[in-house]
Amino acid sequence: MCGIVGYIGSREAARICLEGLHRLEYRGYDSAGIAVVRDHALDVRKVVGKLLNMDASLAEKPLPGTLGIGHTRWATHGKPSVENSHPHVSMNGRIAVVHNGIIENYGELRERLRAEGYVFKSQTDTEVMAHLTQKYYEGDLRAAVIRAVKDLEGAFAFGVICADNPDVLVAVRRFSPLVVGLGEGENFIASDMGAIRKETDRVYVIDDDEVAYITREGVELTDLEGNRIEREVFVIPWPAEAAEKGGHKKFMHKEIHEQTDAMHNCLAGRLSAPDRPIQLDGLNMTAEEIRNLRKVVFTACGTAYHAGLVGRFLMEYLAKIPAECDLAAELRARNPVVLDNTLCVPISQSGETADTLVALRDMKEKGARCVSVLNVVDSSIARESDGVVYIQAGPEIGVASTKAYTLQVMTMTLMAIHFAEVRGTADPALLRELKAEMLKMPAYAAELLKREPQVLAVAERFYRLEDSLYLGRGVNLPSAMEGALKLKEISYIHAEGYSAGEMKHGPIALVDPELFTVAIAVHGDVYEKMIGNIQEIKARSGPVIGVADDGDEVIGRECDAMIWVPPVPEMLSPMTVAIPLQLLAYHMADLRGEDIDQPRNLAKTVTVE
Ligand code: AGP
Repeated sequence: MCGIVGYIGSREAARICLEGLHRLEYRGYDSAGIAVVRDHALDVRKVVGKLLNMDASLAEKPLPGTLGIGHTRWATHGKPSVENSHPHVSMNGRIAVVHNGIIENYGELRERLRAEGYVFKSQTDTEVMAHLTQKYYEGDLRAAVIRAVKDLEGAFAFGVICADNPDVLVAVRRFSPLVVGLGEGENFIASDMGAIRKETDRVYVIDDDEVAYITREGVELTDLEGNRIEREVFVIPWPAEAAEKGGHKKFMHKEIHEQTDAMHNCLAGRLSAPDRPIQLDGLNMTAEEIRNLRKVVFTACGTAYHAGLVGRFLMEYLAKIPAECDLAAELRARNPVVLDNTLCVPISQSGETADTLVALRDMKEKGARCVSVLNVVDSSIARESDGVVYIQAGPEIGVASTKAYTLQVMTMTLMAIHFAEVRGTADPALLRELKAEMLKMPAYAAELLKREPQVLAVAERFYRLEDSLYLGRGVNLPSAMEGALKLKEISYIHAEGYSAGEMKHGPIALVDPELFTVAIAVHGDVYEKMIGNIQEIKARSGPVIGVADDGDEVIGRECDAMIWVPPVPEMLSPMTVAIPLQLLAYHMADLRGEDIDQPRNLAKTVTVE
């Protein structure tokens, strides 16, 4: 996710924007820019790399002006570069735009605008908004912005300024966060309250399809039809020094709570309706190549590997393609046989994990086509892949991967459904049902996050124990493995993810009152067997935390504690089950007083083999 800051008042806009962007710096970015209006002209400064470069640039050559917008870019379309960094400027040089989100239909808009003579300078989706605003501008900036966003599909938060309107800052949002900060004789916009908390604790939180018309004297909110909106002032409850975590105690907690918005971004431009085919930008494969596939090999490390296990399950279940999933280090070690028409899918949040990068190289040398599932644009793995499907999770700072995992699973679910559609290997009615449920996933995530207090109560009962088992079957075996990894890596409680069917082959010897078991028993093909596993453990006095569908009294009766999830098709349940298990690990580690964002011995990215 990108960072947006804007200012209108009597102070130096560039300095205020830059300070605000610094407070968003933790989120990660690859370039930055600021635009100000002065003497009825736009002045724009952009840098690639860190904000220190902007500090130096402004120190050398100031950017005076009391109206301005600033941006730190987390690349989603187009490589990190000066021309791709924001603010983007309209062709006539009069309007500047900063953007957070994804414009799904930017391709067709770009072609339409080019046909009308607009010249594009960047590879970004954002630039279409600068030219559209110029196209519709007839002296009223708000009206032009409203008309322009009516052409857009997707997720956005925009800040817009115009050299011909030195007393107005316009902002608008859909699916991407945006607040308006309220000052005395000055006002602000930001993509995150933390950016402006030092300037004010009073904000309007803007909702979807609402427009803010901001002057030095005040703020007017309307909908896209111009109807006034009365909004209560929100007083930010936390101090400025808590800004970078947005009031959350830890980055991990913040990132767990970002999953609703992040899921919107992951689906944007890919899945719009149950009866429309999935579009997977970046896949770089023709329908024929997809139909000719003979094997898919997923490969990754850690959490990404668990996501790959879900991908493998769904690729075989839906697309009927033989699929494997190997730990990257093991894939290399076994020197696999690669047949023709083999697709290798490296999965990586950072795109820099050494084992995964080398596994990609090995598979390419053996003739496999490599399409990666990544979060960081233009990362090392991206640059060596034949195609990249980005998960659009935004920056993930916490060492324990959370939103990246859920969106890796979401992205591979989209891929499996897309392949099934192209190959005609699944019942169209089933695919429609899965797509309909995928579109509800952000709402399911929001509901699960609301239930955090219930998960905390479970954590409070078990966090003192030192040993645990996480059990699942089928598509939720990876869920069990991932839940165990989350717990062990931040709480240091010993946790093993196991196939429940394996219990009688050894692990059940571990069961005793001092070892708690998390049993994933949502409805599906393996539900009845999970009941049996739970009973086996209870018969040996092992405490069981059940993860089950809302209202499932059968599991409720068997278990010592429950974590309830909204019922979804079993194939999609890894995305719902993951969220409470992330929260369970977080709260157990928090109760044990551990350093959650920087666990001992771990790094966010393992760039060595
Ligand atoms: C997950 O919580 C860990 N931080 C770790 O297992 C991580 O998933 C693994 O190192 C892979 O990282 P990547 O996704 O950046 O390649």
